[in-house]
Amino acid sequence: MIVGYSPYVDSIADLITTQQVVTSGMMQESQRCRAALDAAKAGKIVALISSGDAGVYGMAGLAIEMAASTGEHIDMEVIPGVTAANSAAALLGAPLMLDNVSISLSDLLVPWEMIVTRLEAVAAADLVVALYNPRSKKRVLQLEEAVRILRTQRSGTTPVGIATAVSSPDQHLVLTDLDHLLEQEVGMRSVVIIGNSTTCVLGGRMVTPRGYYTEKM
Ligand SMILES: C[S@@+](CC[C@H](N)C(=O)[O-])C[C@H]1O[C@@H](n2cnc3c(N)ncnc32)[C@H](O)[C@@H]1O
Repeated sequence: MIVGYSPYVDSIADLITTQQVVTSGMMQESQRCRAALDAAKAGKIVALISSGDAGVYGMAGLAIEMAASTGEHIDMEVIPGVTAANSAAALLGAPLMLDNVSISLSDLLVPWEMIVTRLEAVAAADLVVALYNPRSKKRVLQLEEAVRILRTQRSGTTPVGIATAVSSPDQHLVLTDLDHLLEQEVGMRSVVIIGNSTTCVLGGRMVTPRGYYTEKM
């Protein structure tokens, strides 16, 4: 049995043959997880689908939490995947060569004040950052605020890569900088990678030098 958010299940249509398929919409993560666990308890082999890596803003944590709360043993395997940040980084060049973090700008499950604290820490620590859930039709101010916070510690020319709908027919890449990020098209299918103070663009690719290569270019 395959359980997942409808667009994610659509994206694996070529893998689906005779399996039973259960899909649902956004914000129905708990119901999906419950359906998957109930089916597993009933003896079915179930694949609970996430995009990218199921353990990064995906369904793996919720499944483990819910299974633990029932007190019943459910045999579970978390299959590693390639995160949106890692896919985007490879398409853009090599921006994650040094210390980096991911921050989701969605304040549905994490209070906005906590997200601001994390952004301030990222800015102060000169970390490369991948912003998940960067902007939606209703939620536009968070990305503006993230840029304002990072700009207090980083130059406006800091390279920024925007990767949208990676690995789909709509895939779209933009290489820009911190001062021009807000002019770009960014949505819920985008991940935004903001460089640190050493990140540069070489031959059209975004790279954060790790320090092996010291010769002046
Ligand atoms: C709920 S999170 C899922 C993250 C996913 N589990 C991962 O490992 O990357 C959804 C966010 O991930 C990013 N994302 C997911 N799929 C993407 C894609 N194909 N291209 C670019 N960003 C994507 C976007 O920032 C989106 O708002």
